[in-house]
Amino acid sequence: MSQSSAREERSIPLKVLVTVQMPREWLEPLEHAGHDIVLGEGLLDHDGLVAAARQVDAIVSVLTDPIDAAVLESGSLGSLRVVGNIAVGFDNIDVKRAAELGISVCNTPGVLDAATAEVAMLLILTCSRRASAAEHALRSGAWTGWGLTNFLGNDLKGATLGLVGYGRIARAVERRASGFSMRVLHHARQDSSEPGYVADLDHLMNESDVVSVHVPLTPETQGLLDARRLRLMHRGGVVVNTARGGIVDEDALADALESGELASAGLDVYVGEPHVSARLLAAPNLVLLPHIGSATRGTRSKMALLACEDVCRVLEGRMPINLVRA
Ligand code: DGY
Repeated sequence: MSQSSAREERSIPLKVLVTVQMPREWLEPLEHAGHDIVLGEGLLDHDGLVAAARQVDAIVSVLTDPIDAAVLESGSLGSLRVVGNIAVGFDNIDVKRAAELGISVCNTPGVLDAATAEVAMLLILTCSRRASAAEHALRSGAWTGWGLTNFLGNDLKGATLGLVGYGRIARAVERRASGFSMRVLHHARQDSSEPGYVADLDHLMNESDVVSVHVPLTPETQGLLDARRLRLMHRGGVVVNTARGGIVDEDALADALESGELASAGLDVYVGEPHVSARLLAAPNLVLLPHIGSATRGTRSKMALLACEDVCRVLEGRMPINLVRA
């Protein structure tokens, strides 16, 4: 009998490490199941995670927790059975190693589509209508009054939005962009067979006034929008990324903004967060948000509850709602 099933039989509460502080009601499924919640006091560093993993049956993690092979291997020396990541993205977890070790990984798709799509729209609007630059001018005293040719942006109505990826969040953006009378195209690896599908990403870049990124970060999507692809957009284009840093090449983006090839860009995600490169901080017409795509009270609580629910299911020997496959 495995160590963990022996403990269950003796009804010893199972231990769940929750790596970050959050409102207690977000942990309701764990409390309801009677699990012993070990709440991280602050962000655990990698060594802290390795040490903690060996002591617990489950981890409720966030996207800043590096759940790599070392953490998972340490967990497998104890009784770690499941990692519930409070995020739709799971690039912080070595899913392949977890599968090899028999540790389930769960994520939280679906509940954050609307919130993330709203932030994509926020960036599309802010970039297209130059809202950030205009506010800055007002606050700095540079605004001298209404001017016929001041702060001229681009109309969304009639503009073409190119979605890179066509999962749930991209579709939620599509619905909202259609409400602004944009023409929406999408590119995905698999033919969606739906109106607006563009098989060739280069063609999508070429056709779009605004490009919005909605693919996960994988070895295949790393640097997907590189200098060559960004140059395919017409002068005055806008690029928005609410997915993961690294899918848009940050230096190439800064170059395109500096040269004026792109009119504007909006980022919510970065390589090496929370560090934001000096090039990005200095680039003109770049709107920068601190990874707030899913940051509404309602959405974050649903994400946490979903991750906890799945952790409970795995600990009870049931199928989780959102099992990530390696
Ligand atoms: C996710 O769920 O992957 C988001 O980036 C969190 O905000």
